[in-house]
Amino acid sequence: MNILVAGATGKTGLHLVRELIDLGQNPTALVRESSDTSALPEGVDLRHGDLTNLQDGVCNGMDAVIFAAGSGGSTGPEMTDKVDRDGAKRLIDLAHAAGVKRFVMLSSVGADQAAPRGALAHYLKAKHEADEHLKTSGMTFSILRPVALTNDGRSAAVILGDKVDPSATASRADVAHVLADAAVSGRFDGIVQLLQSAQDMSDVQGGKHPNLSGTHDLLKE
Ligand SMILES: NC(=O)c1ccc[n+]([C@@H]2O[C@H](COP(=O)([O-])OP(=O)(O)OC[C@H]3O[C@@H](n4cnc5c(N)ncnc54)[C@H](OP(=O)(O)O)[C@@H]3O)[C@@H](O)[C@H]2O)c1
Repeated sequence: MNILVAGATGKTGLHLVRELIDLGQNPTALVRESSDTSALPEGVDLRHGDLTNLQDGVCNGMDAVIFAAGSGGSTGPEMTDKVDRDGAKRLIDLAHAAGVKRFVMLSSVGADQAAPRGALAHYLKAKHEADEHLKTSGMTFSILRPVALTNDGRSAAVILGDKVDPSATASRADVAHVLADAAVSGRFDGIVQLLQSAQDMSDVQGGKHPNLSGTHDLLKE
């Protein structure tokens, strides 16, 4: 599959591109002029585009699109609106216009609320609005909402759905693994779900989540 990855040069995105290659897929990295592409695997296709100003046709030829980008914590609310909300919405619209079959969104725990509170309220509202736009886009979608991200490697298991502890953590490697699986297999089509990494197998209800196959609780919205 030809899969466009927004945020491919990010900490999660780099894991994601490698996962897609391992699955035998053909990822294309959406990059800015200023992006440092040196950590991307050699030979990965690049497509230029800035989420604040995406050109028509940026999704042409793609079977799936994964949004793993974000404005980050060091910019203000204006960039949150431009990248995390409006950039995501524009990419969704362009993917739909290009006939893309599946759109996978890296969202966040807390983005289920239309009027979130607390320090992350502005960011979570932006993510919520992007998620809602995707759900009504007419495209097949999958939305993953991890808890706080870490740079740990793959864990023994992930927990998906309503058994997730919102105060737990999720490794970016685990998140990338599930994003890639969602894009390629379609097993999470139409599903919005939380994700955490299991620290050990005792975290996993019934002790039977050694991998991703059919063992998670799924939260449908
Ligand atoms: N941090 C958490 O605990 C947490 C929890 C749940 C969900 N999340 C979500 O996970 C996302 C990914 O996290 P991460 O740590 O992997 O992110 P990251 O390392 O900060 O990577 C962000 C990516 O977005 C790209 N990007 C930023 N602005 C862009 C623009 N205007 N146009 C095109 N690309 C742009 C960056 O490209 P450049 O290389 O050009 O900068 C980079 O590839 C976050 O943004 C957040 O929404 C985070």
